This record gives sequence, C-alpha cells and structure tokens, in this order.
Amino acid sequence: MAKQVKIFDTTLRDGEQSPGCSMNLQEKLELAKQLERLKVDVIEAGFAIASPGDFAAVKTIAQSIKNSTVASLARALPGDIDRAYEAVKHAESPRIHTFIATSDIHLKYKLKASKEEILERAVEMVKYAKQYCSDVEFSAEDASRSDWEYLYKIFESVINAGATVINIPDTVGYTTPDEFYNLIYNIKNNVPNIDKAEISVHCHNDLGLAVANTLAAAKAGATQLECTINGLGERAGNAALEEIVMTINTRKDIYDMFTNIDTTELYPSSRLVSKLTGMKIQHNKAIVGDNAFAHESGIHQHGMLAHKSTYEIMTPESVGLTKNKLVLGKHSGHHAFEERLKTLGYHFTKVEISNLFKEFKVLADKKKVIYDRDLEALVQDKTLAI
Ligand code: KIV
Ligand code: ZN
Repeated sequence: MAKQVKIFDTTLRDGEQSPGCSMNLQEKLELAKQLERLKVDVIEAGFAIASPGDFAAVKTIAQSIKNSTVASLARALPGDIDRAYEAVKHAESPRIHTFIATSDIHLKYKLKASKEEILERAVEMVKYAKQYCSDVEFSAEDASRSDWEYLYKIFESVINAGATVINIPDTVGYTTPDEFYNLIYNIKNNVPNIDKAEISVHCHNDLGLAVANTLAAAKAGATQLECTINGLGERAGNAALEEIVMTINTRKDIYDMFTNIDTTELYPSSRLVSKLTGMKIQHNKAIVGDNAFAHESGIHQHGMLAHKSTYEIMTPESVGLTKNKLVLGKHSGHHAFEERLKTLGYHFTKVEISNLFKEFKVLADKKKVIYDRDLEALVQDKTLAI
C-alpha cells in the first residue's frame, strides 16, 4: 500500500542562506503562509539564534501557522536550543531541530573533537531539547561522508535519548543515488530502534544530484524529505521541492508513495520565492520554468494538438498554471500557427493561411519568439495589403 512521505520545507532557513536571498519579516511570513497553502508538513522557519531578526521571524511564523509543524534550527548547544524553543514554543506543532557534524573531516578540522565526545554531546543535547519539546529532530551534518558504523551508533543513541526524527544530510552534495540508497537502506537495517523515529534526508545539489539522491532515499525507506522551493539554497542549492513532488506524483508506478502537497500551489509558490528573493528561475527549469510546458517544434505542436499525452507527462494545470503555452518560433508548424490565429479570432481560408505562414516563417527567422502581438501585426499588414 502506498505510504505517505512528509515534505519538510527549508526555503526559509537553508534557502535563505543562499547569497543575496535574505528576506525581511513580512516577506518570511508571506512565504510561510504560502507554504501552509501548499500543505508542506514541516516549515523550517529559520535559525533562531542566528540574529534577532531570525528569532523574530521564527516566532511570528510559529504564532501564525496552524496546519504545518514549525521548526527552528539549533546547533547542539544549550544556548541555541533555548533560543530555538523560545521562538517555536507558541506553534500548534513545534519542533527543535538540532545538529552536529559526524564526518572525520568535520571532527578533525571544525569541531576538533573525538567521535566519543561528539556522540556524548549529541545525546546530551537531544535530551536537553526533549525537556522542552516532544518533537526533536537530530541531524548528523555531513552524514554522507561519515563512517557508517559511527552513524548507526549515533542514531541509535539519539533515538534512545528521545529524537523523533533522524536526518541524514548530504551536506556538500557529494553522494550519488546508488550510494545514498545503500546508506539509507543500511541505516534502516542496522539501527535497532529505528522504528521509533522518522528517517529524513536532506540533499544539496553540488553535483546536480540532489533530487535524484532524495528520491533514491525515499525508495530505500526515508519518510521525510527536506527540500526548498526552486531548489534555493547554499552554493548549488538544495533538492527542489516541486521536482521531488511531481516525480512522485507522475511516476506512481515507480514510487509507491504520496505526499500531502497541493500541487496546484507549486507554481504560485515558485513565483513568490522568486519575487521575494530576487532569484530568477531559469527558463528551462523543470516544473516551474517559463518553458516547462512550452512546445515550440512543429512536430511537437502537431502532436500536442492531436492529443496532449503525446508530449506532456503532466498537465500545466496540475502545477497551478492555467494553460500551456504553445510558443511560436521558427520551428513551429502550420497547425500550431493556424490554431493560434483561431484563438486570436482570425479565420482564414487554406490559401490565405499558407500565404500568411510563409510570411510568419520569414519573421520567425529574425525573431526568437513570436508573440501574439507580432502575429496580429503580421495579419494586419497582410490583410491591408490584400
Ligand atoms: O546541509 C546540512 O547539513 C544542513 C543541516 C543543518 C541539516 O543544512
Ligand atoms: Zn543544508
């Protein structure tokens, strides 16, 4: 039977860490409300200790959001956890998300501590968070470059200490789908008390594999997927929420799971994030890019007009776009041209269409895209000349 996977959105925390993408309190609240409309299960609203502004934003979001869990990030330090709880405590469903690095590289160069010391600190800090909040997520930063045996041990220990979610981040976007599948599968099978916690994954996109890695993890048993709208995030970004959700929805034959997401809110969420952060969406971005549902070549346009399933694996309406765009350009065919003229209210004889089509091709050689206004001008010129 299909199982639910939860969507944990971190656009407001990891996404906002993307250079030049900071948002003010009002903007963060507006986005949080949109994420609630999108029906994400968890909103990571920020990193409360990072600044007074971050604290105020997490607190305001916690007070306003009713239908999603609201989380704040905290390092595995008492001061961070105090601040995180202060910020989320008014939420209907609050969560403290605490993390510490577990890879040898981070232990040696960043934390300058032994594996035993880090394990002890992780356990102590989960217990510390647990006295405030029943819902505690623990992340093993740089998990994908950590020793697997050590990960099993630390996850078993933090679950015993009360962690309700254990998160496995691919912090530097280093893993690959096969490897990440094996890691999650092995965690599931080697951590004896794993059934007491949710398995979460958090992938970065440095090699362009964040979505593929997240989906591989879901197949291996992860039940919470961390991601951001438009894949916003540090460096090359995080796994893109819209791509994960639409893959699960579109390929039900492969992914025996579902999410709670209202997919018709994907496009509005994407536009809002772009507007608030000033981060433009590439035209050919999957799901939400300007060209994602645009068909230019004549063969494709002809097929689309005959039956949408020929070249469309999901409908534009399903992601919140009201209609697909048949972009006219030099590769466009006769059928699409005639169809567009009809929608503009022009009805010509076959001969007239053929003549206009020749004119259109001359124009299309000069212009990348032919807009409705160009077509109208073309028709105007021609009819005046007749
Ligand atoms: O990428 C990462 O490791 C993180 C953790 C704090 C979850 O963002
Ligand atoms: Zn991250």
